[in-house]
Amino acid sequence: MKRIGILTSGGDCQGLNSAIRGVAKALYEHFGADLEIYGIKNGYHGLINGVYRKMEPIDFSGLLIRGGTILGTSRQPFKTMQDKDKDGVTKVEKMKKNYKKMKLDCLVVLGGNGTHKTANLLSEEGLNVIGLPKTIDNDLWGTDMTFGFYSALNVATDVIDRIHTTATSHSRVFIVEIMGHKVGWLTLYAGIAGGADVILLPEIPYDIDSVNRELAKRASIGKSFSIIAVAEGAISKEEAAMSKKEFKKHRAKMKQPSIAYRVADELRDKHPNEIRVCVPGHFQRGGSPCPYDRVLTTRIGTSAAQLIAKKKYGYMIALKDNEIVPVPLKDVAGKLKVVTPDCNEVVTARQMGICFGD
Ligand code: F6P
Repeated sequence: MKRIGILTSGGDCQGLNSAIRGVAKALYEHFGADLEIYGIKNGYHGLINGVYRKMEPIDFSGLLIRGGTILGTSRQPFKTMQDKDKDGVTKVEKMKKNYKKMKLDCLVVLGGNGTHKTANLLSEEGLNVIGLPKTIDNDLWGTDMTFGFYSALNVATDVIDRIHTTATSHSRVFIVEIMGHKVGWLTLYAGIAGGADVILLPEIPYDIDSVNRELAKRASIGKSFSIIAVAEGAISKEEAAMSKKEFKKHRAKMKQPSIAYRVADELRDKHPNEIRVCVPGHFQRGGSPCPYDRVLTTRIGTSAAQLIAKKKYGYMIALKDNEIVPVPLKDVAGKLKVVTPDCNEVVTARQMGICFGD
């Protein structure tokens, strides 16, 4: 009997359920009745506290188009994994105990950076683990693409498209804040796809005067509206020069609720047009996965099942040059894939005259 545990951890995204479906269906195809799948509730929290249930094949039906995660999720910071509770037991020890209690042959974890750091730790502790790369941020090292990214991109692009029409009617400058945590992939892609005039990313610190010059340039050629796509993690040049500690202190004092509002305030005195802000937030993570993510999750999920069948553990399933390949967890753990200022997409955007505020 093969016994497989599965959990989803970290922020949710589109495609989690279709990835779970991909893993499960391919496992049932391979092992038939000789298989038990255990759904672990709310990510590592469920593994730590022993909250899980045996799933049946019917549980995996209807998942291809369903948003969110049927298993629930939570954030369990990696840095707390070795913290001891009042009885002196760490979370890692509890997870190992529950893994053994469930008599698992393999634990499949669907998650982003933090999740894979913990997955690698569990693997180093002797558990059989396979990781599946999810996040709308596309910031996981070792894979060209994470699932969730393209679905969120569709939403973010749709937001910019819709803002475009109303910004044009009212001759307004609109600042659209896009998710992505500390990296700019989602903003870069949505900015290009939505025809933003200015794109502000964490990886390319901005100077507000440069942004303002771009707005003035557009106004001088009769363009009465402008769209600025700003990543939630964007920083100014002044902030980029600060130490981590100084930056934290500086941001704690920021009176605006988020970066888009700050950029709006910074521009308000400089630019004659009305400046407005749009923050789509978690809309970007909600709803059905787009067709690309349905295909990607199916490919990734089935490949995870193939690795389990071959008893090959300790890998994240990655997309590289359109091939699905296993990448060792130890190579992935703790590494971020950030936008490089000379990457193809940035170069293309610059060639289109898009301003990065630098
Ligand atoms: O990692 C995905 C993500 O949506 C980031 O883009 C964002 O910074 C973060 O999660 C938001 O997290 P939460 O849902 O916990 O507010």
